[in-house]
Amino acid sequence: MKIFVKKGMLADTKSQAIILTLFEGSRKLTGNALEIDKISGGLISELIGNGDFEGKPSQISVIYTRGNLPAQRIALLGLGKQNEFNLEKLRAAFATVMRHLRGLNIKEAATSLNLNLVAGKKEHVVQAVIEGSLLGLYQYTPYKTVGREDLKEMDELNIVVADNDFSLIEAEVKKARIIVDAVYFARDMISAPSNEMTPSNMAQKALEVARRKNVSCKVFDKDKMKEMGMNALLAVASGSHQEPKLIILEYWGGRKKEAPVVLVGKGLTFDSGGISIKPAEKMDEMKTDMSGGAAVMGAVMAAADLRLPLNVVAVIPATENLPGGSAYKPGDILKSYSGKTIEVLNTDAEGRLILSDALTYASEYKPEAIIDVATLTGACIIALGDDVIGMMGTDEKLKKEIDKAAQNTGELVWELPLWESYHELIKSDIADYKNAGGRSAGTITAAAFLSKFVGDFPWAHLDIAGPAWTTKDKPYIPKGASGVTVRLLVEFLRNRVRKSRV
Ligand code: BES
Ligand code: MN
Ligand code: ZN
Repeated sequence: MKIFVKKGMLADTKSQAIILTLFEGSRKLTGNALEIDKISGGLISELIGNGDFEGKPSQISVIYTRGNLPAQRIALLGLGKQNEFNLEKLRAAFATVMRHLRGLNIKEAATSLNLNLVAGKKEHVVQAVIEGSLLGLYQYTPYKTVGREDLKEMDELNIVVADNDFSLIEAEVKKARIIVDAVYFARDMISAPSNEMTPSNMAQKALEVARRKNVSCKVFDKDKMKEMGMNALLAVASGSHQEPKLIILEYWGGRKKEAPVVLVGKGLTFDSGGISIKPAEKMDEMKTDMSGGAAVMGAVMAAADLRLPLNVVAVIPATENLPGGSAYKPGDILKSYSGKTIEVLNTDAEGRLILSDALTYASEYKPEAIIDVATLTGACIIALGDDVIGMMGTDEKLKKEIDKAAQNTGELVWELPLWESYHELIKSDIADYKNAGGRSAGTITAAAFLSKFVGDFPWAHLDIAGPAWTTKDKPYIPKGASGVTVRLLVEFLRNRVRKSRV
């Protein structure tokens, strides 16, 4: 869908549907709504007066204007109570109305934008409207061949604004578009089946990202990894005929000698569990086990397109985890890239193995911070539910920054402790560490394991096993891949820029 920002008044706008937002319980109409109500001979006040429309969160009423206005329809959109309103409700409202209009086969809509909807967050208000609209309309359709003509699509959203807001809104819309494109990029990669989205194909996608200014890409193949001693990553890959890849995307937008932020993303293009094979039920969902990798690639893409003045690197270990004659086995001992040895107790705890080598590689940048993103543990879903990112880490300041970014993007982050006592649970009898710590605190022991490979650099780990994929529609996350943490990471990076400018 294209988005245009235009100067003008909504009341004068020719459109298939103009979207008018209203708070719940507002006694008098104001602004655009008041004007349009007057011109249209009370179309809106009649509806509200009769109790048809209360302005509940994401409530929608579509009214025909019957020639009273240049626009064909008015779509009233409820925002809920003003004192309970926030960016997340705004995203949800616009996602819902856009999907509703698309369902009516409407191709084009117009809306105005009140920058003061959320106090002190003008830029974020624009971003939320664009994010909600576009993310809610996302559909993954390349494999649908039957009935393609029935697929509905919105073509155009016009944002009609007053002269004095025009420049700010236009600039913010451009930035929001970049961020949404990065989320779409990640969602597309995650939605693609594992027979398409192989490690090699992920590397191809990284090369696409690297066509941008100041971005470069390196891809290490199996031979290179052997030479380097990335035996943990290689072990996970050993049961598969797909060649593993270590993908490195670098964006140098800051000063040359400035240390980068390194983002590490789990890139399991299919996780069968390996010899410790998973049950058949829902195994198909394990094509999404590269969601962390897709997210960090999306974040670098957005950072480059936004031309953020900082350095960001993404490291993505990409492989399949399959059983087979050459697969690694429970009991195997691996010498990781760091030199530390790992006893494999469960081949389904493969994420931490590939991440251990990638994190060691990340630490070689002497980074300002390392953030890893991974669909790492089913235990995280048990602990926090389907919607929440589990955060663990060694650096209070970094965790606070992530938390702050998440407040704005609406991605739910909750911290779990990483106390000393948990580290006991991953000590091996015959090697340095074991890759599975038993049933207790599964999310935390996985993080404790990762912590052994990050050196002394500020590090945070985001377990996205829950929110990476959703089996039910959410307002701006249609059923399927969410692209979670793309917006979070971009907001985190943008906050770092905002801070360094003060
Ligand atoms: N990719 C899975 C975690 C996962 C499970 C993500 C469900 C999303 C939904 C991971 O590789 C895994 O299998 N973890 C094991 C670890 C255990 C064997 C220590 C798990 O969570 O059961
Ligand atoms: Mn697994
Ligand atoms: Zn996995």
